[in-house]
Amino acid sequence: MKLTIIGSGHVGLVTGLCFARKGYRVLCVDNDKKKISLLKKGIVPFYEPGLDKMLKESMRKKRIAFSASVKEGVNHAEVLFIAVGTPLGDDGSADLSYIENVCRGIARSLKTYRVIVEKSTVPVRTGERMKRLIKKYSGGTCFDIVSNPEFLQEGRAFQTTLYPDRIVIGVESKKAERIMRKLYARFKAPIIVTDLASAELIKHASNSFLALKISYINAVARVCELSGADITQVAYGIGLDKRIGRDFLKAGLGYGGYCLPKDVAAFAYISEHLGHKFNLLHEIQKINLGQRNLFIKKAEKALGSLKGKKVALWGLSFKPDTDDIRESPAVAIAYRLVKLGAKVQAYDPKVKPSKIPSLKNRMKFCASPYEAVKEAHGLLIATDWKEFKRIDFKHVKKEMLRPIIIDGRNMFDPAKMKKSGFVYHGIGRS
Ligand code: UGA
Repeated sequence: MKLTIIGSGHVGLVTGLCFARKGYRVLCVDNDKKKISLLKKGIVPFYEPGLDKMLKESMRKKRIAFSASVKEGVNHAEVLFIAVGTPLGDDGSADLSYIENVCRGIARSLKTYRVIVEKSTVPVRTGERMKRLIKKYSGGTCFDIVSNPEFLQEGRAFQTTLYPDRIVIGVESKKAERIMRKLYARFKAPIIVTDLASAELIKHASNSFLALKISYINAVARVCELSGADITQVAYGIGLDKRIGRDFLKAGLGYGGYCLPKDVAAFAYISEHLGHKFNLLHEIQKINLGQRNLFIKKAEKALGSLKGKKVALWGLSFKPDTDDIRESPAVAIAYRLVKLGAKVQAYDPKVKPSKIPSLKNRMKFCASPYEAVKEAHGLLIATDWKEFKRIDFKHVKKEMLRPIIIDGRNMFDPAKMKKSGFVYHGIGRS
C-alpha cells in the first residue's frame, strides 16, 4: 500500500517514517524545496531521537521518497495525509491558511477517488470546511475527508507514533473507514472510529486536558510554597489515584512547545465562537504564563537585582530531547534575564545559537554546562535534560561565584543539594 504525507515537519516526517517502518511506500511532500533537497540526501531537518536512523533505514529499503509537488503526491497514493502547520492567528484562532492551500492544490490534481486525512491539529468543523473547499476546485471527483489526529510527543516521537495509546479515526463513509482500518491494521493499538467532528474535538480536548493537569499542579505548587508542603510528594500522592494518573503532574516553568499553548488558545477561541465561553481554558493559560514571573521573582529574591550579574542558564528547548524552542519557557526566561540586565551564560545540549538569532549577540552560548556556570552568581535550570542529572556538582560549585541554584524543573533533591553546599530553590518546595 502506498501513502502520501503532505507537510514534512515534525508530525509529517515522523508519521511518514513510521508508516515506512510498517512496510508502506511513502511519499513525503513539502513546499520547502531546501528541506526536500536535504531530505533526499538523507539529512534530517531537526533533532529527534532516532530520526537519523529511521530516515536512513527507510531510504535504504526504498520505502520513502520526497517531493515538492502536491500533484505528484496526489498521483502517488489513494490516501493523502495533510500534516502542515496550523499556527495561532492574531486573534487566537487557528490559522488554517496552510491547510486551505494544500486543499486547493489537492483539488486541482484530483482525478480519481482519494481519502484526504487531516493529521494537522485543527478546530472542530475544519473537515467540513475542507470538504467545501475541495468540492469547489475539484470538478466533481469523489473523495472522503477523514480526521485522524496525531498524539505524538516530541522527544518520544517514534515511540508515541509506533505504539500509540489509541488511534482515532473520524469518518463519514464506510469506504473511508475500511481503508483507514486496513492502513492501521499493522499498528497494535485500539482504534476508535467516530464522526468527523468528534475526532477533531478529541485532539483539542486532549491537549487542553494535558495543559490543565500541568497548570493545576503548578497552582498547587504555589499553595505548597505558602504552606511548607512539598509539591513532588503531593503530586505523587495525587497521581497514584488511577483516576488521576501520575503523568503530567510535574510542577515547574509550565508548558511550552508548538502544540499545547496554541491548542489551548485555539480551543478557547472555537468554543467561544460556537457559543460557549470556556473560562477554564483562560485560567490554564494565565497560570502557565504566571510560572515564568514567579521564577524570575525567585531568582531576584535569591540573587538580588539581576543587573550586571552573571547568570548561568541551563536549557533552552521547550523540553528535553528536542532542539525545538517554539514557545519555550526557557527562551522566554532568557529574554527576561537579558532585559533585566543580567549577563546570561546559556547552555543547551541541542539548541544552536543560530536558532535564536535575536539572542545570539545578547547572551553567551556555552559549549558545556561547566562553562556556563563559570563565575556565575547563580544557576537557573529551565529544561530538564537528563545530562544535568549526571553533572559533577563539586565541579559546578568550584566554578560558581556563589553556589545558588534556582531549579525551574525540580530536578534535584533539595536536602542533597543543601548538603553539597548549595542554596537551592525549586518550584513548590519549601
Ligand atoms: C503534546 C502532546 O503531549 C502530544 O500528545 C500531542 O500529540 C502534541 O502535543 C501535538 O499536539 O502535536 P509535545 O508538544 O511534544 O506534545 O510536548 P509535551 O510532552 O506534551 O510537553 C509540553 C510541555 O509541557 C513541555 O514544555 C513540558 O516541559 C511541559 N510539561 C509536561 C510540564 O511542565 N509538566 C509535566 O508534567 C509534563
